[in-house]
Amino acid sequence: MNLIQMASMLEFSQKGDERGHMVVVEGMKDIPFEIKRIFYIYGSDKDVIRGQHANRESQFVLINVAGTSKVRVKDGKGNEAVYSLNRPHTGIYLPQMVWKDMYDFSEDSVLLVLASTEYNAEEYIRDYDEFVKIINCGDARSK
Ligand code: TYD
Repeated sequence: MNLIQMASMLEFSQKGDERGHMVVVEGMKDIPFEIKRIFYIYGSDKDVIRGQHANRESQFVLINVAGTSKVRVKDGKGNEAVYSLNRPHTGIYLPQMVWKDMYDFSEDSVLLVLASTEYNAEEYIRDYDEFVKIINCGDARSK
């Protein structure tokens, strides 16, 4: 997996006019999956690290619709990249099976997450060593 496969920044078109800004995100058009779920994260302190997991199934797009945050992505083979989410018309696409940490939240951060799946706690890998093992050795329990 190279850095591009690990994550890619998306720039959405802005439908602004004199009344203000609007960004539209449609599944399979502006992002590479149908949207099954949305959630948003706000009120996280600057020193909080969220995420700290990989997902076997879910793909995500993260958009800071207000404020800023950072996301660190790791492929489990020693490659990592940090992306700044700091504009409401840009997002980051994260495929399944990447490790992600979200951190450095501004006080006004509202991080919108679009997901390709409904929530299933079973598909989360929350132990980094286990993630590395699965990436590098495969795993009999993989779905
Ligand atoms: P968690 O995955 O720890 O959040 P983050 O990835 O931002 O660190 O989720 C926090 C809690 O919310 C946890 O108890 C699981 C629950 N949750 C749901 O019930 N549905 C969801 O879609 C998500 C993302 C989380």
